[in-house]
Amino acid sequence: MFVAAIVVLVLVDGGLIYAGIKFRDRPGHTAQQFHGHNFLELLWTVVPTIMVISFSVLSFQKLNVMNDTSGAGMTVNVQGQQWTWIMNYPKEDRFKLTDGTFLRGAQELHIPVNMKVHIQLSSKDVIHSFWVPNIGGKKDAVPGRATDLWIQADRPGTYKGQCFEFCGTGHADMLITLVVHTPDDYGTWIKSALTEANRLNDPATKTGRESFLALPCTGCHTVLGTTAAGKVGPDLTHIASKKSIAGGVVSPVNEDTLTRWIHDPQALKPTTQMPNYHLSDQQVHDIVQWLLTLK
Ligand code: CUA
Repeated sequence: MFVAAIVVLVLVDGGLIYAGIKFRDRPGHTAQQFHGHNFLELLWTVVPTIMVISFSVLSFQKLNVMNDTSGAGMTVNVQGQQWTWIMNYPKEDRFKLTDGTFLRGAQELHIPVNMKVHIQLSSKDVIHSFWVPNIGGKKDAVPGRATDLWIQADRPGTYKGQCFEFCGTGHADMLITLVVHTPDDYGTWIKSALTEANRLNDPATKTGRESFLALPCTGCHTVLGTTAAGKVGPDLTHIASKKSIAGGVVSPVNEDTLTRWIHDPQALKPTTQMPNYHLSDQQVHDIVQWLLTLK
């Protein structure tokens, strides 16, 4: 289509410029006024019509290829929500966690190289759009409706993507990181992702984790491997390994400081943006127990 468009551009604009210069009205030469050349009229009606029809047929054929998810090596269920993407890996044994659920991720999608991957799209709230430009294919994620596309990467690497449908104030930060692995590397990645997810899913800290994920904490904080992907506050993925929190004001990081911090952040740092949610002692205790596992 691009090549055809270039040819048309050169012919039409070339003819226009040539005629404009050659036959223009100037001293010693009067421009001719005429219309109604039957052959030319026919030509520039029939040729574009044939072109438009051919391009439509070619586009529909290509559209079928783009929508044909058959023969995919794996299916990932991707859910858009304000403002992140939740990647649900296939319900296969290799993605199974110790608690019987299956591997999920936020924002990052890991796939093997040279494999056709079926992406099943859905949305939790408003319309989003899944797009990783270098891999091609853009599709809307529509609430209450399933849409499909497939992607295939020919080279390992990391590819940046972006939600492509304005979906609210966090739209610009609704990014996608597509990581393409070699087959060996993919196996290694699954193992480490499972270890990480199993640690996060440890039954001993389950209540705290669930409280954290249900409370507004996730709107501001990211914990990799969970659905918490907020960008406003600090990333808590490795909070238990940090020397201090609250921008260095509160240290060391232990049960006591974390408990006091969550109970009343302003008491420790009056200027902090973190709100006091007036959680119960039990809730704070559970959340702190979970945070302490985030090494
Ligand atoms: Cu989601 Cu824009």
